[in-house]
Amino acid sequence: MLKDDQIKSLMLAWELEKSLAELYTRFGEQLPEFKELWERLVQEEQGHAEAVRRLYQMTYEGRCAFAAGTIKCDAIRSIVDYVRETIDATALVRFAPARALEFVYDLENSLIERDVFSHFRVSPDFTETLRLLDAETRQHVNLAKNALDKLRAGGAPAAT
Ligand SMILES: [Fe+2]
Repeated sequence: MLKDDQIKSLMLAWELEKSLAELYTRFGEQLPEFKELWERLVQEEQGHAEAVRRLYQMTYEGRCAFAAGTIKCDAIRSIVDYVRETIDATALVRFAPARALEFVYDLENSLIERDVFSHFRVSPDFTETLRLLDAETRQHVNLAKNALDKLRAGGAPAAT
């Protein structure tokens, strides 16, 4: 049986990935000039949410060891709240491309800085999925940075 804090950590991680997919969907609607980038981000965030859901299921069924470790539920909760507030804001304002890309950079970077995924201890058959989750989050930081650099240099928007 999972402990309350383990359930909380996994639910928050799932909520975070789902919320990021929703936010990037909104940005994609507002900023079609970065269509490829948003499509990629949305697809990968949906994959992350599914990975966390499977992690939860496998742990619940006793097929996967999980320890929340020093994961900070409050820290993840505050990021989720921030993402939800930004989603609400997209209904009221149209974000400038640079502002939206800065959001991606800051949000994904804060996940890396908090080392969110390294706090999950999983069985070997799930290690690769967790590694991919971490790697793609790092890649999102780079994708946002590259797009921002190109935007500031006055070049054409691109997904890579
Ligand atoms: Fe993600």
